[in-house]
Amino acid sequence: MSKINAALTGIHACVPEYILTNEELSTMVDTTDEWIQSRTGIKERHILKGEGKGTSDMGAKALLGLLEKSNTKAEEVDLIICATVTPDMLFPATSNIIAHKAGCINAFAFDLNAACSGFLFALQTGRMYVESGLYKKVVVVGADKMSAIVDYTDRKNCILFGDAGGAVMLEPTTEDYGIIDADLHTDGSGKDFLYQKAGGSVYPPTQKTVANREHYIYQEGQSVFKFAVSRMADVSADMMTKHNINPEELAWLVPHQANLRIIDATARRMGIRKEQVMINIEKYGNTTDATIPLCLHDWESQLKKGDKLILAAFGGGFTWGALYLKWSYDGSQVKKLV
Ligand code: UT7
Repeated sequence: MSKINAALTGIHACVPEYILTNEELSTMVDTTDEWIQSRTGIKERHILKGEGKGTSDMGAKALLGLLEKSNTKAEEVDLIICATVTPDMLFPATSNIIAHKAGCINAFAFDLNAACSGFLFALQTGRMYVESGLYKKVVVVGADKMSAIVDYTDRKNCILFGDAGGAVMLEPTTEDYGIIDADLHTDGSGKDFLYQKAGGSVYPPTQKTVANREHYIYQEGQSVFKFAVSRMADVSADMMTKHNINPEELAWLVPHQANLRIIDATARRMGIRKEQVMINIEKYGNTTDATIPLCLHDWESQLKKGDKLILAAFGGGFTWGALYLKWSYDGSQVKKLV
Protein backbone atom coordinates (compact mmCIF):
# COMPACT_ATOMS: atom_id res chain seq x y z
CA MET A 1 0.00 0.00 0.00
CA SER A 2 1.32 3.49 -0.84
CA LYS A 3 2.26 5.74 2.02
CA ILE A 4 -0.30 8.39 2.96
CA ASN A 5 1.07 11.93 3.12
CA ALA A 6 -0.63 14.89 4.78
CA ALA A 7 -1.06 17.57 2.09
CA LEU A 8 -1.85 21.17 2.85
CA THR A 9 -4.85 21.70 0.57
CA GLY A 10 -6.14 25.14 1.56
CA ILE A 11 -5.34 28.27 3.53
CA HIS A 12 -7.13 31.35 4.76
CA ALA A 13 -6.22 34.09 7.24
CA CYS A 14 -7.61 37.34 8.54
CA VAL A 15 -6.59 40.38 10.54
CA PRO A 16 -8.86 42.78 12.44
CA GLU A 17 -9.64 46.15 10.90
CA TYR A 18 -8.00 48.52 13.37
CA ILE A 19 -4.41 49.46 12.45
CA LEU A 20 -2.08 50.59 15.23
CA THR A 21 0.78 52.50 13.58
CA ASN A 22 4.23 53.29 14.93
CA GLU A 23 3.13 56.94 14.96
CA GLU A 24 0.21 56.18 17.27
CA LEU A 25 2.43 54.07 19.53
CA SER A 26 4.85 56.97 19.83
CA THR A 27 2.03 58.99 21.43
CA MET A 28 1.51 56.21 24.00
CA VAL A 29 5.11 55.37 25.03
CA ASP A 30 8.56 56.93 24.61
CA THR A 31 9.46 55.51 21.19
CA THR A 32 9.83 56.50 17.56
CA ASP A 33 8.93 55.09 14.17
CA GLU A 34 12.64 55.15 13.33
CA TRP A 35 13.61 53.05 16.40
CA ILE A 36 10.86 50.49 15.82
CA GLN A 37 11.55 50.07 12.11
CA SER A 38 15.32 49.86 12.45
CA ARG A 39 15.24 47.37 15.38
CA THR A 40 12.31 45.20 14.28
CA GLY A 41 11.15 45.98 10.71
CA ILE A 42 7.61 46.67 11.94
CA LYS A 43 5.56 49.64 10.65
CA GLU A 44 2.08 48.74 11.86
CA ARG A 45 0.01 45.97 13.41
CA HIS A 46 -3.72 45.11 13.53
CA ILE A 47 -5.62 45.14 16.82
CA LEU A 48 -8.93 43.43 17.63
CA LYS A 49 -11.24 45.96 19.25
CA GLY A 50 -14.67 45.41 20.78
CA GLU A 51 -16.22 44.12 23.96
CA GLY A 52 -16.43 40.34 24.11
CA LYS A 53 -14.16 39.75 21.09
CA GLY A 54 -11.37 37.21 21.37
CA THR A 55 -9.03 34.82 19.62
CA SER A 56 -11.89 32.51 18.59
CA ASP A 57 -13.47 35.29 16.50
CA MET A 58 -10.37 35.51 14.31
CA GLY A 59 -9.88 31.73 14.28
CA ALA A 60 -13.51 31.13 13.28
CA LYS A 61 -13.37 33.78 10.55
CA ALA A 62 -10.22 32.19 9.11
CA LEU A 63 -11.81 28.73 9.28
CA LEU A 64 -15.05 29.87 7.59
CA GLY A 65 -13.01 31.46 4.79
CA LEU A 66 -11.01 28.25 4.42
CA LEU A 67 -14.20 26.17 4.15
CA GLU A 68 -15.62 28.51 1.51
CA LYS A 69 -12.42 28.57 -0.55
CA SER A 70 -12.00 24.80 -0.45
CA ASN A 71 -15.72 24.01 -1.03
CA THR A 72 -15.81 22.05 2.22
CA LYS A 73 -18.93 21.64 4.32
CA ALA A 74 -18.46 22.45 8.01
CA GLU A 75 -19.81 19.00 8.96
CA GLU A 76 -17.05 17.29 6.97
CA VAL A 77 -14.26 18.53 9.26
CA ASP A 78 -12.94 15.72 11.49
CA LEU A 79 -10.57 17.57 13.78
CA ILE A 80 -9.60 21.17 14.65
CA ILE A 81 -6.33 21.91 16.44
CA CYS A 82 -5.90 25.50 17.55
CA ALA A 83 -2.43 26.80 18.40
CA THR A 84 -2.72 29.82 20.67
CA VAL A 85 -1.22 31.49 23.74
CA THR A 86 -4.22 33.79 24.18
CA PRO A 87 -7.18 31.43 24.53
CA ASP A 88 -10.61 33.04 24.94
CA MET A 89 -10.65 31.50 28.43
CA LEU A 90 -8.42 29.03 30.29
CA PHE A 91 -11.10 26.48 29.46
CA PRO A 92 -12.98 25.35 27.48
CA ALA A 93 -10.44 25.20 24.70
CA THR A 94 -10.64 27.95 22.09
CA SER A 95 -10.74 25.28 19.36
CA ASN A 96 -14.07 24.10 20.85
CA ILE A 97 -15.47 27.61 20.52
CA ILE A 98 -14.12 27.97 16.98
CA ALA A 99 -15.72 24.64 15.99
CA HIS A 100 -19.04 25.84 17.40
CA LYS A 101 -18.87 29.25 15.69
CA ALA A 102 -18.03 27.64 12.34
CA GLY A 103 -20.65 24.90 12.64
CA CYS A 104 -18.16 22.00 12.65
CA ILE A 105 -20.49 19.76 14.60
CA ASN A 106 -18.70 16.50 13.77
CA ALA A 107 -15.20 17.66 14.65
CA PHE A 108 -13.37 16.99 17.86
CA ALA A 109 -11.10 19.84 18.83
CA PHE A 110 -8.28 20.76 21.18
CA ASP A 111 -5.78 23.57 21.78
CA LEU A 112 -2.03 23.35 21.70
CA ASN A 113 0.41 25.78 23.29
CA ALA A 114 4.00 25.98 22.12
CA ALA A 115 4.17 29.80 22.13
CA CYS A 116 5.35 31.21 18.78
CA SER A 117 6.24 27.71 17.51
CA GLY A 118 2.68 26.53 18.17
CA PHE A 119 1.55 26.53 14.55
CA LEU A 120 4.42 24.24 13.54
CA PHE A 121 3.82 21.92 16.49
CA ALA A 122 0.10 21.80 15.58
CA LEU A 123 0.86 21.08 11.91
CA GLN A 124 3.08 18.18 12.91
CA THR A 125 0.35 16.88 15.26
CA GLY A 126 -2.33 17.21 12.56
CA ARG A 127 -0.03 15.46 10.09
CA MET A 128 0.05 12.37 12.33
CA TYR A 129 -3.75 12.06 12.40
CA VAL A 130 -3.85 12.24 8.59
CA GLU A 131 -0.87 9.96 7.87
CA SER A 132 -2.26 7.32 10.23
CA GLY A 133 -5.34 7.12 7.99
CA LEU A 134 -7.62 7.97 10.91
CA TYR A 135 -8.95 11.32 9.66
CA LYS A 136 -9.48 12.92 6.25
CA LYS A 137 -10.03 16.61 6.99
CA VAL A 138 -7.90 18.10 9.73
CA VAL A 139 -7.87 21.86 10.26
CA VAL A 140 -4.94 23.57 11.96
CA VAL A 141 -5.67 27.07 13.26
CA GLY A 142 -3.06 29.55 14.49
CA ALA A 143 -4.66 32.55 16.18
CA ASP A 144 -3.74 35.07 18.83
CA LYS A 145 -5.14 38.24 20.29
CA MET A 146 -1.77 39.41 21.61
CA SER A 147 -3.22 42.83 22.45
CA ALA A 148 -4.99 41.11 25.37
CA ILE A 149 -1.66 40.43 27.13
CA VAL A 150 0.44 43.38 25.94
CA ASP A 151 1.24 46.13 28.44
CA TYR A 152 0.80 49.35 26.47
CA THR A 153 2.99 51.21 28.99
CA ASP A 154 5.97 48.88 28.29
CA ARG A 155 7.80 50.30 25.26
CA LYS A 156 10.06 47.25 24.92
CA ASN A 157 7.17 44.90 24.17
CA CYS A 158 4.13 46.87 23.08
CA ILE A 159 5.69 47.75 19.76
CA LEU A 160 6.17 44.11 18.76
CA PHE A 161 2.83 42.37 18.76
CA GLY A 162 -0.40 42.31 16.74
CA ASP A 163 -3.58 40.22 16.42
CA ALA A 164 -4.51 37.75 13.65
CA GLY A 165 -5.83 34.29 12.83
CA GLY A 166 -5.11 31.74 10.12
CA ALA A 167 -6.30 28.24 9.23
CA VAL A 168 -5.04 25.47 6.94
CA MET A 169 -6.61 22.20 5.78
CA LEU A 170 -4.64 18.94 5.89
CA GLU A 171 -5.87 16.03 3.77
CA PRO A 172 -4.46 12.64 2.78
CA THR A 173 -2.70 12.04 -0.53
CA THR A 174 -0.64 9.19 -1.91
CA GLU A 175 1.24 11.61 -4.17
CA ASP A 176 4.62 12.95 -3.17
CA TYR A 177 3.29 16.23 -1.71
CA GLY A 178 2.58 17.58 1.74
CA ILE A 179 4.54 17.53 4.96
CA ILE A 180 7.76 15.62 4.39
CA ASP A 181 9.62 16.17 7.65
CA ALA A 182 9.65 18.20 10.85
CA ASP A 183 12.31 18.78 13.46
CA LEU A 184 10.81 20.27 16.64
CA HIS A 185 12.44 21.13 19.97
CA THR A 186 11.72 22.47 23.45
CA ASP A 187 13.99 23.62 26.26
CA GLY A 188 12.11 24.53 29.42
CA SER A 189 15.09 26.34 30.91
CA GLY A 190 14.08 29.18 28.59
CA LYS A 191 10.97 29.84 30.69
CA ASP A 192 12.69 32.67 32.59
CA PHE A 193 13.16 34.85 29.51
CA LEU A 194 9.69 35.08 27.98
CA TYR A 195 6.46 34.48 29.87
CA GLN A 196 3.15 35.70 31.23
CA LYS A 197 3.64 35.17 34.96
CA ALA A 198 0.19 35.28 36.47
CA GLY A 199 -3.21 33.81 35.70
CA GLY A 200 -2.16 30.16 35.79
CA SER A 201 -2.05 27.69 38.69
CA VAL A 202 1.19 28.98 40.26
CA TYR A 203 0.11 32.61 40.47
CA PRO A 204 -3.69 32.76 40.18
CA PRO A 205 -5.11 36.25 39.69
CA THR A 206 -5.09 38.43 42.79
CA GLN A 207 -5.17 42.17 43.35
CA LYS A 208 -1.40 41.95 43.83
CA THR A 209 -0.74 40.20 40.49
CA VAL A 210 -2.84 42.83 38.77
CA ALA A 211 -1.14 45.71 40.58
CA ASN A 212 2.27 44.24 39.67
CA ARG A 213 1.24 44.01 35.99
CA GLU A 214 1.98 40.27 36.01
CA HIS A 215 -0.77 39.37 33.56
CA TYR A 216 1.22 40.94 30.73
CA ILE A 217 4.06 39.59 28.58
CA TYR A 218 7.49 39.70 30.19
CA GLN A 219 10.44 39.35 27.84
CA GLU A 220 14.21 39.70 28.07
CA GLY A 221 14.52 40.72 24.44
CA GLN A 222 18.25 40.35 23.91
CA SER A 223 18.43 36.84 25.42
CA VAL A 224 15.50 35.70 23.29
CA PHE A 225 17.03 37.37 20.24
CA LYS A 226 20.35 35.51 20.57
CA PHE A 227 18.65 32.18 21.12
CA ALA A 228 16.27 32.75 18.21
CA VAL A 229 18.98 33.64 15.72
CA SER A 230 21.08 30.58 16.44
CA ARG A 231 18.37 27.95 16.91
CA MET A 232 15.99 28.92 14.11
CA ALA A 233 18.86 29.30 11.63
CA ASP A 234 20.51 26.00 12.63
CA VAL A 235 17.35 23.90 12.49
CA SER A 236 16.36 25.36 9.10
CA ALA A 237 19.83 24.89 7.57
CA ASP A 238 20.00 21.33 8.95
CA MET A 239 16.65 20.53 7.32
CA MET A 240 18.03 21.62 3.93
CA THR A 241 21.15 19.49 4.38
CA LYS A 242 19.18 16.45 5.51
CA HIS A 243 16.99 16.55 2.39
CA ASN A 244 19.72 17.64 -0.03
CA ILE A 245 17.88 20.85 -0.89
CA ASN A 246 20.28 23.30 -2.46
CA PRO A 247 19.54 26.99 -1.86
CA GLU A 248 18.31 27.68 -5.41
CA GLU A 249 15.89 24.76 -5.22
CA LEU A 250 14.04 26.13 -2.20
CA ALA A 251 10.96 28.04 -3.35
CA TRP A 252 10.27 29.75 -0.01
CA LEU A 253 11.41 30.09 3.56
CA VAL A 254 8.33 30.87 5.66
CA PRO A 255 9.72 32.18 8.94
CA HIS A 256 7.93 33.18 12.12
CA GLN A 257 7.75 36.98 11.98
CA ALA A 258 9.25 38.24 15.24
CA ASN A 259 12.04 40.51 14.09
CA LEU A 260 13.32 41.32 10.59
CA ARG A 261 16.93 41.00 11.80
CA ILE A 262 16.27 37.41 12.97
CA ILE A 263 14.65 36.55 9.62
CA ASP A 264 17.59 38.04 7.68
CA ALA A 265 20.11 36.11 9.80
CA THR A 266 18.23 32.85 9.18
CA ALA A 267 18.14 33.44 5.42
CA ARG A 268 21.88 34.22 5.37
CA ARG A 269 22.68 31.03 7.29
CA MET A 270 20.60 29.00 4.80
CA GLY A 271 22.39 30.66 1.87
CA ILE A 272 19.15 31.84 0.26
CA ARG A 273 18.24 35.18 -1.30
CA LYS A 274 15.83 37.66 0.30
CA GLU A 275 13.44 37.09 -2.64
CA GLN A 276 12.99 33.51 -1.41
CA VAL A 277 11.73 34.62 2.01
CA MET A 278 8.14 35.48 2.91
CA ILE A 279 8.25 38.69 4.97
CA ASN A 280 5.17 40.65 6.00
CA ILE A 281 6.24 41.72 9.51
CA GLU A 282 6.05 45.38 8.46
CA LYS A 283 2.24 45.13 8.13
CA TYR A 284 1.33 42.88 11.05
CA GLY A 285 4.13 42.72 13.65
CA ASN A 286 4.47 39.50 15.62
CA THR A 287 1.08 37.76 15.69
CA THR A 288 2.55 34.69 17.50
CA ASP A 289 0.69 31.57 16.27
CA ALA A 290 -0.72 33.36 13.23
CA THR A 291 2.47 34.62 11.55
CA ILE A 292 3.12 31.53 9.40
CA PRO A 293 -0.45 30.99 8.11
CA LEU A 294 -0.70 34.75 7.50
CA CYS A 295 2.41 34.54 5.28
CA LEU A 296 1.11 31.49 3.39
CA HIS A 297 -2.19 33.31 2.89
CA ASP A 298 -0.55 36.49 1.59
CA TRP A 299 1.63 34.51 -0.85
CA GLU A 300 -0.96 31.86 -1.80
CA SER A 301 -1.48 33.08 -5.37
CA GLN A 302 2.28 32.72 -6.05
CA LEU A 303 2.56 29.17 -4.68
CA LYS A 304 2.87 26.38 -7.24
CA LYS A 305 2.35 22.64 -7.00
CA GLY A 306 5.62 20.99 -6.04
CA ASP A 307 7.20 24.12 -4.51
CA LYS A 308 9.59 23.23 -1.71
CA LEU A 309 8.96 25.27 1.45
CA ILE A 310 10.66 25.37 4.81
CA LEU A 311 8.54 26.73 7.66
CA ALA A 312 10.59 27.82 10.68
CA ALA A 313 9.74 29.21 14.10
CA PHE A 314 10.97 29.82 17.63
CA GLY A 315 9.29 31.13 20.73
CA GLY A 316 8.76 31.14 24.46
CA GLY A 317 9.46 27.95 26.32
CA PHE A 318 11.89 27.89 24.60
CA THR A 319 10.40 26.14 21.57
CA TRP A 320 11.73 26.01 18.02
CA GLY A 321 11.62 23.96 14.87
CA ALA A 322 11.58 23.65 11.08
CA LEU A 323 9.11 21.82 8.87
CA TYR A 324 9.73 20.78 5.25
CA LEU A 325 6.68 20.83 3.01
CA LYS A 326 5.98 20.23 -0.68
CA TRP A 327 3.12 22.51 -1.75
CA SER A 328 0.23 20.54 -3.21
CA TYR A 329 -1.79 22.93 -5.42
CA ASP A 330 -1.57 25.85 -7.77
CA GLY A 331 -2.39 28.91 -5.65
CA SER A 332 -3.22 31.11 -8.67
CA GLN A 333 -6.30 28.92 -9.36
CA VAL A 334 -7.85 29.41 -5.92
CA LYS A 335 -10.97 31.59 -5.72
CA LYS A 336 -10.48 34.92 -4.00
CA LEU A 337 -12.79 35.89 -1.17
CA VAL A 338 -14.09 39.45 -1.06
O1 UT7 B 1 8.25 35.63 19.00
C1 UT7 B 1 8.58 35.74 20.33
C2 UT7 B 1 10.05 35.78 20.49
N1 UT7 B 1 10.52 37.12 20.73
C3 UT7 B 1 11.37 37.75 19.90
O2 UT7 B 1 11.73 37.28 18.85
C4 UT7 B 1 11.97 39.04 20.32
C5 UT7 B 1 13.47 38.93 20.28
N2 UT7 B 1 14.08 40.20 20.66
C6 UT7 B 1 14.04 41.28 19.88
O3 UT7 B 1 13.47 41.26 18.80
C7 UT7 B 1 14.79 42.50 20.34
O4 UT7 B 1 15.58 42.17 21.45
C8 UT7 B 1 13.86 43.69 20.70
C9 UT7 B 1 13.23 44.26 19.42
C10 UT7 B 1 12.77 43.24 21.65
C11 UT7 B 1 14.66 44.80 21.34
O5 UT7 B 1 15.71 45.20 20.45
P1 UT7 B 1 17.22 45.30 20.99
O6 UT7 B 1 18.03 45.75 19.84
O7 UT7 B 1 17.57 43.98 21.61
O8 UT7 B 1 17.11 46.45 22.04
P2 UT7 B 1 17.47 46.43 23.61
O9 UT7 B 1 16.42 45.71 24.38
O10 UT7 B 1 18.89 46.03 23.77
O11 UT7 B 1 17.36 47.97 23.94
C12 UT7 B 1 18.30 48.92 23.39
C13 UT7 B 1 17.92 50.29 23.87
C14 UT7 B 1 17.69 50.36 25.38
O12 UT7 B 1 18.16 51.63 25.82
P3 UT7 B 1 19.58 51.80 26.55
O13 UT7 B 1 19.49 50.91 27.76
O14 UT7 B 1 20.60 51.32 25.55
O15 UT7 B 1 19.65 53.26 26.83
C15 UT7 B 1 16.20 50.31 25.54
O16 UT7 B 1 15.73 50.94 26.71
O17 UT7 B 1 16.67 50.68 23.28
C16 UT7 B 1 15.75 51.06 24.31
N3 UT7 B 1 14.41 50.73 23.87
C17 UT7 B 1 13.65 51.54 23.14
N4 UT7 B 1 13.87 52.77 22.63
C18 UT7 B 1 12.89 53.32 21.89
C19 UT7 B 1 13.73 49.57 24.11
N5 UT7 B 1 12.53 49.64 23.52
C20 UT7 B 1 12.46 50.84 22.92
C21 UT7 B 1 11.46 51.49 22.14
N6 UT7 B 1 11.73 52.71 21.66
N7 UT7 B 1 10.28 50.90 21.85
